[in-house]
Amino acid sequence: MRINAVAMCLPLVLLGAARPHIADPAVASTAPGLAATPPMGWNSWNKFGCNIDEQLIEQTADAMVSSGMRVAGYQYVNIDDCWMAKTRDAAGNLQADPVRFPHGIKAIADYVHGKGLKLGIYSSAGTATCQGLPASLDHEVADAKKFAEWGVDYLKYDNCNNQKRPAIERYTAMSKALKATGRPIVFSLCEWGENKPWEWGRQVGGMLWRTTGDISDRWNSMIGILDKQVGLEKYSGPGGWNDPDMLEVGNGRMSFSEYIAHFSLWALLNAPLIAGNDLRSMSDTTRAILTNRAVIAVDQDWGGQQGTLLHNDTTTHTQVWVKPMHDGSRAVVLLNRGSVATSISVATADLGLPPAKEYQALDVWAHTVQTVLGDLQSGVPPHGAAMFVIKRK
Ligand code: GLA
Repeated sequence: MRINAVAMCLPLVLLGAARPHIADPAVASTAPGLAATPPMGWNSWNKFGCNIDEQLIEQTADAMVSSGMRVAGYQYVNIDDCWMAKTRDAAGNLQADPVRFPHGIKAIADYVHGKGLKLGIYSSAGTATCQGLPASLDHEVADAKKFAEWGVDYLKYDNCNNQKRPAIERYTAMSKALKATGRPIVFSLCEWGENKPWEWGRQVGGMLWRTTGDISDRWNSMIGILDKQVGLEKYSGPGGWNDPDMLEVGNGRMSFSEYIAHFSLWALLNAPLIAGNDLRSMSDTTRAILTNRAVIAVDQDWGGQQGTLLHNDTTTHTQVWVKPMHDGSRAVVLLNRGSVATSISVATADLGLPPAKEYQALDVWAHTVQTVLGDLQSGVPPHGAAMFVIKRK
């Protein structure tokens, strides 16, 4: 399913002329191909908050394998806030909370690696995390060294308690420290979009950057974040992705249709697909959403541009989103933001497809293929989406 090789082979012009180049080799990614496609994995925060421990993380790694998520492309098991003890150790190093993580982070990394997965961890570019625990501002070199020693593969780096020091300076310091360890570590900037990280994230070695404040498990939260992605398309691409925040699929406060829309849209936006639910007890329905191969293939495909808003009808509360795929086909999301079922259509001529008498559309949720002549059309439930991949027949 992953198409890193395709993405890597695309000529640079296809990768977006406006994309800034990395200025400083000390903050470049530590391995070619790291985050070449949007990272996929799981993170503890959305479902568990601070209620985490080593059993949860290890059981989640087990579930990622047994549920089929690993085979579908999910790779990172990420521990968010609250893994660290309330104080640094005598040598000034971060240490794991002795109750929640009595065997330390290295033991968890070994366990996760043993499952063919990778481990992610969290800190803040501030004096304390958002939950008031020790964080990495002015400790970047020591902390990055520890993360590397423990075998960490991914760092989500938050923005709380930043002492109002410039973001670029704070995120650059950690990036350089990570780079200096020599270990390939995905660097995830969690700066909430406050200082337009899409404009500088890539130069400071960021491989994904949050574009907004936190998501919650509500339709209005998800849609509010969606609206803020318009205009950011040109900053996204292999090695550096806009991050509209982690998934809420399966957390229980949105409907089935709403979760279908959430996952469809995140894939269309080339968002990192970081599940945020309890993988150990998820329903078959949730698993089927998160492991939908055709939708994941859209997310992981780099056709030269993040998906964009094509039509916005504020009267019917419907939108059409489209994303070019590397093979010239188009991924299309027909979004019904309203509270009544409706039919949404888009002229194939508007989708940027080469002219043809007939097109073939795969309905990625119904798993059916249909022939399309003039318009691509579908009934869409309230607060829901239909999603297609359409190409010349
Ligand atoms: C911030 C981040 C969240 C999460 C919490 C943890 O709010 O944006 O994603 O990491 O901190 O405290």
